[in-house]
Amino acid sequence: MTEAPPVVRRPLVVANWKMYLARSESVRAARTTRSFLARVAGRSVDVVLCPSFPALVGVQEALAGSRLAVGAQDLHAEERGPYTGDVAAAQLAGLARYVILGHSERRRHHGETDELVAAKVRRALRHGLRPIVCVGESAEERDAGETVARLRTSVAAVFHGVPGLSLAHCAVAYEPLWAISVGPGSPSPQPAPEDAAHLLGLARAVLAGRLGRRYAEHLRCLYGGSVDAQTVTAFVREPGVDGVLVGAASITPGGLAAVVHAVRLCRS
Ligand code: PGA
Repeated sequence: MTEAPPVVRRPLVVANWKMYLARSESVRAARTTRSFLARVAGRSVDVVLCPSFPALVGVQEALAGSRLAVGAQDLHAEERGPYTGDVAAAQLAGLARYVILGHSERRRHHGETDELVAAKVRRALRHGLRPIVCVGESAEERDAGETVARLRTSVAAVFHGVPGLSLAHCAVAYEPLWAISVGPGSPSPQPAPEDAAHLLGLARAVLAGRLGRRYAEHLRCLYGGSVDAQTVTAFVREPGVDGVLVGAASITPGGLAAVVHAVRLCRS
């Protein structure tokens, strides 16, 4: 029997703008980013801009006809209902292509659990949205030597009920809580790139064990936490690391473009 050719996963750079930008700033940043990345985005690297909900429409319009994609930062697990302030997957479909789910800031400030994140992942997929699912240990878990156990448990839980075929539309982001920046210009210490790659390999292996290797090979594995143009290369150079989730360093078009170009150079 001949071996199947290795799966080629296109690198992915996700800009998580969190709550950093005003609506008008988001639209302006999207326009400028578009012009900076016209030749690169969607060809050698997939680039996703994730603004706050009120800026989604404006950013979508700013990116229309380009190969840059729009992502949301969250959605509600239920289809519809009495959930004041929440946003449904159906309301995002057609507006966003991707959605960040299970970010540690949602887990910390809104009490989200792996089980809830799993329900959100399934809801997103049902509406054709591509989930970017965040996992990662706290500093206390790291110090207690629980990083691997935490990662295994989280990955198994957040992808519970996801069919193998859907993994090609998903990404998992390893974001240790202690590595996430405190804000623009305030990066935190990062894990060694080989450690991040090892943990992402474990994440893929967990899903290969549950859903089948041929499906898990299509999952894109990202690192996130204080990534910028200086630090990105060391991570995406690691085998099995398919891209990055960037917060603070992504809110300026120049900062984001520098990260995307570094990823492209590394992969060409
Ligand atoms: P950071 O954020 O790049 O500002 O550390 C990453 C994230 O929280 O997704």
